[in-house]
Amino acid sequence: MPGLTIGDSLPNLQIDTTHGTIKLHDYVADSFTIIFSHPGDFTPVCTTELGAMAAYSHKFAERGVKLLGLSCDDLNSHKEWIKDIEAYNNGKKVTYPIGADPTREIIKQLNMVDPDERDPSGDIVPSRALHIVGPDKKIKLSFLYPASTGRNLDEVIRALDSLQKACKYKIATPANWKEGEEVVIAPSVSDDEARKMFPAGFKTAHLPSNKHYLRFTHVQ
Ligand code: BEZ
Repeated sequence: MPGLTIGDSLPNLQIDTTHGTIKLHDYVADSFTIIFSHPGDFTPVCTTELGAMAAYSHKFAERGVKLLGLSCDDLNSHKEWIKDIEAYNNGKKVTYPIGADPTREIIKQLNMVDPDERDPSGDIVPSRALHIVGPDKKIKLSFLYPASTGRNLDEVIRALDSLQKACKYKIATPANWKEGEEVVIAPSVSDDEARKMFPAGFKTAHLPSNKHYLRFTHVQ
């Protein structure tokens, strides 16, 4: 089934959240924004994930990133659940908004429906979807996990660091890259351009093909 994916524009949906009603484009404004969904309130993995998001919120703020959680239950339920999330996570405050979606229209439009899960009344529920939206309101990266698998927030931060660097420089990040490590120069950049573009210089891997496409450099 087709659905919202990388490169698509974020629909400008209106969402009722624990911080008031928002329109998605106004909320994103000119920031990177992470929109992440959860199968349901008062469920075990979700409680750990929302708490982890709260614990990492300073890391997202340092990167200029806004957060928006989404779970279909209503706002009263979210407000009660937040007390559990904060208590379980040593009092760390949930400072980001959590949206409600009682009609399930939002999760459908954001491609966040879990095909294999239903709530006790038989209604559809969200998967553990996470979209990183750019300041241009386009989906830059999506994670799609089933209800049984909690997400790794270090991987979210790592992917975000890669995306933000690739927005700034003509680079990409290699397998298992971490902040501070070498990046690779985009194939569209010639060696002559690379010499001007990357003051740190670059080194080219010698490969059996003798093609000089794997070039490493350092950027800030
Ligand atoms: C959970 O958050 O733990 C969960 C929610 C729905 C199905 C399975 C697990």
